[in-house]
Amino acid sequence: MRILIINGGPHKGNTWRLTEIVREILYNFDKTIMFDEIHLSDIDLPFCTGCSNCFRKGHVVCPHNKKMQPIMDMIEESDAVIFSVPCFQGHLPGILKNFTDHMAFMLHRPRYFTKKALIISTTGGVSADSTTKTLAATLPGWGFNKCYQLPITALSWNDYKPTEKDLEKTTNLTKKFYLDVKSGKMHVPGIGVLIPFNLFQAMYVGNKGEKEYPTEDNNFWPKYKGMRYAPGIPMTPLKRFLGWVIYLVGKKLSKTMIITYKK
Ligand SMILES: Cc1cc2nc3c(=O)[nH]c(=O)nc-3n(C[C@H](O)[C@H](O)[C@H](O)COP(=O)(O)O)c2cc1C
Repeated sequence: MRILIINGGPHKGNTWRLTEIVREILYNFDKTIMFDEIHLSDIDLPFCTGCSNCFRKGHVVCPHNKKMQPIMDMIEESDAVIFSVPCFQGHLPGILKNFTDHMAFMLHRPRYFTKKALIISTTGGVSADSTTKTLAATLPGWGFNKCYQLPITALSWNDYKPTEKDLEKTTNLTKKFYLDVKSGKMHVPGIGVLIPFNLFQAMYVGNKGEKEYPTEDNNFWPKYKGMRYAPGIPMTPLKRFLGWVIYLVGKKLSKTMIITYKK
């Protein structure tokens, strides 16, 4: 099992300390786990410029692709990703938000269908849960199959020492995450991911729409033609039916609604 740990904070503080505890718990469960680490603060990723190259021409022509591609490849090569995310103003720290902005094209062209995530956040007093929820709402858009959330109130600005209760919560959740990743079991997707998957497919397969300013989505979706979700991911009959309904709505919409990528 390969687990990538992404430190989405600007330093190694309370949240990183808790993340190291999670890593130790995982290692005690299974000494064969291979861990990789990325500290976003080491990458010096410039701000997303909003050039839209990723949407229009593909992420490989992002001006920051040299910095982004290795991280994307490391996620691809992992079974699961742990995100270590301090709570800043009830949200993701800017350094992580900037990273997710560079990945926003995946909401149009998802890919990490077999990946699972554990999102860890600590807060001084409030909103660790809104921080983990924000990222947990984003990752399924990139394709992630399941997100576990560990929000912890540290009551500390840089001297967090987990209480017995925190350790128990951390151990229980880490165990759930580990067993799920180990099982290789894929979960049925929620309606929130069936909507973009089927809408975008309906709008971009066989419908070039805007010819003067085409989008990379036109090249991406044909490989999923006729599929209501990614291959290998289980679907219930109800979800398949809902997928078709969303697809048909998308087909109807695409006749009148042409999105232009003209800049
Ligand atoms: C820029 C900044 C913003 C913060 N915002 C909040 C907040 O909205 N709510 C809160 O309760 N604590 C807030 N805190 C406190 C941190 O969430 C808390 O100390 C957390 O454990 C820090 O994790 P870290 O040491 O990994 O950076 C903030 C701290 C900083 C530096």
